[in-house]
Amino acid sequence: MRSSFETINSSKANFDDIYCMDDPRGYFSVLGALDYMIPDIAAPIVRQVLAARARQYDIGRAPLILDVGCSYGINAAVHRFPVTFAVLRRRYTRREVARLSSAELLEFDRNYYASWPDIGLGNFIGLDPSVPAIAYAKNVGLIEAGITTDLERFDPTPADRRLLEDTDVVLSTGAVGYVTDKTYRRILGAVRRTPWIVSFVLRMFPYDSLASVFAEHGLVTERLASAVFVQRRFRDVAEFDSTLQALRERGVQTDGFESDGLLRAELFLSRPATDAWAAPIDDIVTVCSGLNRPVGTRYVKLAEDEAEVALEQ
Ligand SMILES: C[S@@+](CC[C@H](N)C(=O)[O-])C[C@H]1O[C@@H](n2cnc3c(N)ncnc32)[C@H](O)[C@@H]1O
Repeated sequence: MRSSFETINSSKANFDDIYCMDDPRGYFSVLGALDYMIPDIAAPIVRQVLAARARQYDIGRAPLILDVGCSYGINAAVHRFPVTFAVLRRRYTRREVARLSSAELLEFDRNYYASWPDIGLGNFIGLDPSVPAIAYAKNVGLIEAGITTDLERFDPTPADRRLLEDTDVVLSTGAVGYVTDKTYRRILGAVRRTPWIVSFVLRMFPYDSLASVFAEHGLVTERLASAVFVQRRFRDVAEFDSTLQALRERGVQTDGFESDGLLRAELFLSRPATDAWAAPIDDIVTVCSGLNRPVGTRYVKLAEDEAEVALEQ
């Protein structure tokens, strides 16, 4: 499977340089220019899944979420604070922000996140071999702790295992392809309880090998068949052509999907069999079309048990 993922990866544009900078400006500038949006598109779905899990497991605290391929902690930002990838992109592409040193930006960002109330949907630990990205995410307070061991190649260290063992939910956006079943096998070997695994995966990457590893640990994998999720635009014609070719080789229908110029991801949810039988994916996930259209000021209920409403743009 590794070699198959490597072959498919060769059809994708390479962004390695922006994953390893001291701060997220390069990441937001390059991927933002390609309309990267999967953390935002995934957010309402992830919330529905977290809510479904909370209905099945009353653990009396926010779940511990392991964000695989967390980069600069963007999923943690989107789920812990009232910000989006789009909002953060605007922040980091400001002229005033471009002038700052990384150390200055880190100080601003630490204060920025500290100034928002935590929504409380989850606490995050991050897994990413990018040492500077993990250091940033930890230092600005987005993740509690980070793991930089490349679990594709190495076993978790004893310290990594201690961080992994309390995981409730394993989340990934834009990471499968870089990570394979090898990483997930090592994660599942380190956790104490069987987690729920939520993955948004580009359609050119087969998920079978990951689902097989999950099955060995008693997890049932469901794919949401009724929806696909836009990840970003293609970088250039070469990436467009080679991705369409890779999808065709997998027998994936691209007309009306990637052929229109936008990469699509699918949602996979893996859970203990009893959880999946009790509440199948179609019962817990509903995709709401139209959320991306501009609307006027809205009233927003803050939480199920709170009467307050907030005004939100
Ligand atoms: C497209 S970014 C996605 C980042 C973030 N999840 C998001 O959606 O904004 C892919 C990330 O995968 C990370 N990555 C690459 N190889 C990895 C590995 N072996 N294990 C974990 N993460 C890896 C990269 O460093 C990068 O941060």
